[in-house]
Amino acid sequence: MKIAVVGGGSTYTPELVDGFARLFPQADLRLVDPVADRLEVIGGLSSRIFGDYGASGRVTWTSDLDAGLTDASVVILQLRVGGQQARISDETLPMSCGCVGQETTGFGGLAKAMRTVPVVLDIAERAARLAAPGAWIVDFTNPVGIVTRALLDAGHRAVGLCNVAIGLERWIAEMLDVKPSSVLLGHVGLNHLTWERAVYVDGVDRLPELLETRPEELAAEVGLPPRTLLSTRSLPSYYLRYFYCHDEVVREDTGRPTRGEQVAAIESELLRMYADPTLSKKPKLLEERGGAYYSEAAVGLLSSLLNPSAAGPHAVNVRNNGTLPFLSDDAVIEVTCDVDTNGARPRPVAPVEPSMSGLIASVSAYEELALDAAIRGGRERVYAALLAHPLIGQHQAAEELTDKLIAANAEHLAWA
Ligand code: G6P
Ligand code: MN
Repeated sequence: MKIAVVGGGSTYTPELVDGFARLFPQADLRLVDPVADRLEVIGGLSSRIFGDYGASGRVTWTSDLDAGLTDASVVILQLRVGGQQARISDETLPMSCGCVGQETTGFGGLAKAMRTVPVVLDIAERAARLAAPGAWIVDFTNPVGIVTRALLDAGHRAVGLCNVAIGLERWIAEMLDVKPSSVLLGHVGLNHLTWERAVYVDGVDRLPELLETRPEELAAEVGLPPRTLLSTRSLPSYYLRYFYCHDEVVREDTGRPTRGEQVAAIESELLRMYADPTLSKKPKLLEERGGAYYSEAAVGLLSSLLNPSAAGPHAVNVRNNGTLPFLSDDAVIEVTCDVDTNGARPRPVAPVEPSMSGLIASVSAYEELALDAAIRGGRERVYAALLAHPLIGQHQAAEELTDKLIAANAEHLAWA
């Protein structure tokens, strides 16, 4: 079973490889990345990790994309067009307009989508020709909602995945001292715009009790004021902080190094460590990245997609198709789904309260415009997407940020 990991030269890869070595040890992982020297370092460590666990599979690597995709049964996408440098610009530019500088929310998410969607579609077209028939594309590449929608619109067999839900699930399991497998979240929204409306433990919804008895603890975990949890009767993801506490985040971030700058420093240290030929485990420092449990999310989802006896629920990005009736059928949503070898189908979702549905609808509309801008290009489409985003939404900011986005990303935009 060949699994191609595009963007395999990422410093995150040892996390993914560690998960496969433990939970899917027969995997034949093929890391694919254009940056050959970095890939060599990551590939070397990855195969030492497989060896350390005595995994029966193997890890190979190549900078030849087509060779890497050939005969793959699964293609995992985890790439970052423009690297951390482009991320730092996404995080910095909107601040001059008083808008949050974040890699997937607001301006940053649009800039990232504009750079990324054409590259991902090209990879997916190659995969459609070269990979095994019926191969799955599992997309970790941000912005996951927009990228997944692009893949589905182009007719690919794709599912989008993020680690926010599994992170909360594991945290709650630890808090309640129960097995992670006994926790099931009622997860609803769009990628990086989600709320847990229920936390089932062995079939019983424990969220009302947790909100009543431990609201501070829950709120601290997601960086939000308890009031926002109590008012929405939910556990929002920490990405909701960029909405509910937008101006506060902008104030805090002003004059501070951006997350991209911090990550760049962590990455150079990680790469130095990875190059040590005696290292055969993922180092502790990797925990300072945001990718906790992403390997387990990937392995769990792949098992359900590939193995008829491993069907199960996963929070993933799929077509809406009427699940949230206030969105178009073509929208991509992130909800708890039943996953088996036929794919992911949303579990029924109880009517979504207006405290969430309004924001979901407005961000989904923005995502539709963002995808149009990413595919067809053009200044007008960039402006339209920025104007529709609830965190930008004003003419002057949209105008100024349109120019900045295009100027900063010209080398990645074929039409600019
Ligand atoms: C979480 C999100 C990912 C995101 C990551 C950023 O894991 O779900 O989508 O890429 O955080 O982590 P970083 O260490 O790059 O800031
Ligand atoms: Mn994510």
